[in-house]
Amino acid sequence: MVKIDLKRVDEIIGRYKGEEGVLIQLLLDIQNELNWIPREAITQISERLRIPKSHIYRIASFYKAMSLNPVGRHTIQICLGTACQVRGAPKILDRMEESLRIKEGETTSDMRFSLRRVNCLGCCAMGPVVVVDGNYYGKVTSAMVEDILEKYE
Ligand code: FES
Repeated sequence: MVKIDLKRVDEIIGRYKGEEGVLIQLLLDIQNELNWIPREAITQISERLRIPKSHIYRIASFYKAMSLNPVGRHTIQICLGTACQVRGAPKILDRMEESLRIKEGETTSDMRFSLRRVNCLGCCAMGPVVVVDGNYYGKVTSAMVEDILEKYE
């Protein structure tokens, strides 16, 4: 369960109270602060600024810079393309899921990591490949998983 700092959301909304046309900036501020826009934040905005929730959801889903799902401070991409699969990527994924105590597609409760699978990162000869925040790790083994994660404590 991801913990949400609703007091912080309240402070951000307070900055814009009484101003017209601030929704996008307000949502961006919440995105920057929490790294995503929780449902509870949308309810707070709707109630305090009297903006229909449906309109807020429309805006938040339209902009790529905004996420309605929790996103960790670090994003791990694990390649499960054919070449990486053959070289043992499923075992790496199992080890990652076990270490982080989440499933692929989820975010850790402390918001540190999000784990995503991808299909090919274009460097198949390095497989299995893991990318964390844009840093590539090639020929990854299960034994390397903890060391990689520790770099992002
Ligand atoms: S299949 Fe993994 S990089 Fe291509």
